[in-house]
Amino acid sequence: GRRVEWPLRPPVVCVMGHVDHGKTTLLDALRQSRVAAAEAGGITQRLGAFHIPGVGEGGEEGGLGITVLDTPGHAAFRAMRMHGALATDIVLLVVSATDGLQEQTLEVLRMLEEQWAEEEEDFCMQRGGEGGKMEGFSPSLSLMVAVTKVDKLHGEEEVQTALYKIEHALAAHGIMSEALGGDVQVVPVSAVTGAGLPDLLDRVRLQAEMLELRADREGPGEGVILDAGMEKGLGMVMSVLMRWGSLAPGDVVVAGEQWGRVKKILGARNSPGGPVDRALPSMPVRVLGLRDLPTPGQEVIVVKSEERAEAVAKARREAAERRRYQETAAT
Ligand code: GTP
Ligand code: MG
Ligand code: NA
Repeated sequence: GRRVEWPLRPPVVCVMGHVDHGKTTLLDALRQSRVAAAEAGGITQRLGAFHIPGVGEGGEEGGLGITVLDTPGHAAFRAMRMHGALATDIVLLVVSATDGLQEQTLEVLRMLEEQWAEEEEDFCMQRGGEGGKMEGFSPSLSLMVAVTKVDKLHGEEEVQTALYKIEHALAAHGIMSEALGGDVQVVPVSAVTGAGLPDLLDRVRLQAEMLELRADREGPGEGVILDAGMEKGLGMVMSVLMRWGSLAPGDVVVAGEQWGRVKKILGARNSPGGPVDRALPSMPVRVLGLRDLPTPGQEVIVVKSEERAEAVAKARREAAERRRYQETAAT
């Protein structure tokens, strides 16, 4: 969506990469939090979502800020990573300076390659073109790379060697860094010393400005389910990343194959603040009021009435059942 009358919305940055390469610790350093230290076994096991406030002209809080999704790197959580990627504008690929590209790093590159190929094909179809890279094609998902843990290397020369190796390994997968004549930014950082962090944030903000992300804030809300489960003291909670329009308490929603009336909206887990009056595009929120647990990765839409919600949810359940039936019949 790029119509100029729609207001700008914050960029959604999805942090991805191999297990233990330092995603959560990097985010902790960027937002002065301590999420990594509280994780069981030091392993991220669910999608994290939160907001980094923007900076105003005098350096105070202001502007749009950035929404960040923290994904798990462990091989077992592939589905969760993909749900994060679904709702994203910028993938921030985190690569450990000491370990280089590993299995889940490559998985991210493959995912991007598929996504881009699909979008390029759509673009060509719309233009009536047939194959070949077309003038004017710009993917909706952009990539930036943070090479982290540079504090573990000894001196600038070792850092440059590590960057050289990582950039050439990326190039072998078709990802060209600026140093190699492409447009993918590769930023060396350390979550321990803080080196490179302001530069990384500046570059993410600039990249987002160039993407000029806009969304309607008035119409019925739409979002993606990031996560759903029981939370102590709250009951059934679904985490949603809003993409369009607005969502407020009292709204009736269809969430994947479930539906309900929104009872309360809270900020994302690990973020301060009380109830939210109105969830707007790019905001990660927790929604209370569903009757059954929806499936992450599916979409949430606001509908006019409970009757409508029930009908849409039922149609979706039946469609899903048909798909499952066809799949089992085919094997
Ligand atoms: P998963 O979410 O489980 O995939 O891991 P992750 O990528 O979020 O990595 P995590 O933040 O859990 O960090 C893994 C280990 O690397 C921890 O022991 C961190 O303390 C360490 N680490 C992360 N960043 C840095 C860094 O910049 N420098 C150093 N020296 N250690 C780091
Ligand atoms: Mg993590
Ligand atoms: Na970890």
